[in-house]
Formats: sequence, C-alpha cells, structure tokens
Amino acid sequence: MNEKPIVIAICMGSSCYARGNARNAEIIQRWLAREGRDARVEFTGTLCEGLCKEGPNLRIGEKTYRGVDPAAIEDILEYECGGS
Ligand code: FES
Repeated sequence: MNEKPIVIAICMGSSCYARGNARNAEIIQRWLAREGRDARVEFTGTLCEGLCKEGPNLRIGEKTYRGVDPAAIEDILEYECGGS
C-alpha cells in the first residue's frame, strides 16, 4: 500500500526560528523517531512566509498552526499524526 505521507512544513525563517521553531523542530524530530512515524511523515522546512508576527508557524497537511508553543507541539503531533 502506498499511503500518502503527512507533510509537516515548519517555518525556518529567522523570526519563527528565534521565536520557538528551533526548539519545535527538535521536538518534532524526536517525536517522529520515538513514535515510529518517520515513514508516514515528510518533515520539511520552509522559508519565511511573511507571517512572522503570528509565529512561530508550521503547517501540517492543509492546516496552518500559528504561535506554536513548544509545550503544545506534542499534542498537535498526536492529534495530526498519531494513531496507526
Ligand atoms: S519567519 Fe516564519 S513567517 Fe516569517
């Protein structure tokens, strides 16, 4: 079966990076490895998308999350990419 991967696109522009996405990226990578989701998920970075004031931003599939606090990222991942 060729299930389409879920795409997580995290903004690596300087504002989002400094506001929390450096930490969020680490947490996402660790979560994917720990939960064995690497195969189902394509994890990628994007350049600044001009929404810095609302950052740190990331997209999962069609959904955009703004102001993502590192404390909330695991709950978001579980919601979007959890389950089997
Ligand atoms: S740095 Fe992320 S939107 Fe600008």
